Amino acid sequence: MRKRVIAGNWKMNMLPNEAISFIEQLSNKVADAKEEIVLCVPYTDLFYSLLTAQNTNIKIGAQNMHWEENGAYTGEVSGPMLKSIGVQYVIIGHSERRQYFAETDDTVNKKVKSAFKYGLKPIVCVGETLEQREAGNTKEIITKQTQLALDGLNANEIENTIIAYEPIWAIGTGKTATSEDANNSIKEIRNKIKEIYGEEISEKVVILYGGSVKASNAKELFMTSDIDGALVGGASLNVEEFTKIIAG
Ligand code: PGA
Repeated sequence: MRKRVIAGNWKMNMLPNEAISFIEQLSNKVADAKEEIVLCVPYTDLFYSLLTAQNTNIKIGAQNMHWEENGAYTGEVSGPMLKSIGVQYVIIGHSERRQYFAETDDTVNKKVKSAFKYGLKPIVCVGETLEQREAGNTKEIITKQTQLALDGLNANEIENTIIAYEPIWAIGTGKTATSEDANNSIKEIRNKIKEIYGEEISEKVVILYGGSVKASNAKELFMTSDIDGALVGGASLNVEEFTKIIAG
């Protein structure tokens, strides 16, 4: 059985004092939750969030990292830097990074490898644009992104990669894929992993859905066969709403 993972992606929101208050409130509400709860916060909130989340069941993640260990890369943050303060997760290849910051399948793959090298768990985002969807290319796009992101990883690393299927047209738009559509796409991703790495590994990979997940649609999404949880953007900024999503 795969564990349900609910990850929040705060994007470029929340000052440290807001992060501390949010985590204090959330930790009280989810103390008995069985789900894996992760908050991916801005770099400037990481340290405060980690301190506040100590002795709670909330894990803290970053939203990006560089693949090199160190060096002349102004403005970048490396895996060892994240690991050194206690960060456990890192989002890699979010569509906003692919779209606005020239992230490619190649840099995504380098970052995923680097995340494992330095002991971080990657949450790798894949997803098609509306144009690609309307042209009937969804399966091809998302399976190719998955294959390229995982290229060169060993079996143990593949099993421990979290994939987030996030159709770009559903991010921040209020439009959610139907649970059936989302589940079908996630099945395609799992099938691709099965085709390359075998069934045992493919059945262990946690695959999340992301794109306008809210309290009102989470339950339906989670009732499907292959959706193992959610990567939540906007609704993860509201404690009540995020708590309801965790409750399913
Ligand atoms: P959204 O964002 O929930 O606001 O649509 C999801 C994401 O970008 O991870």
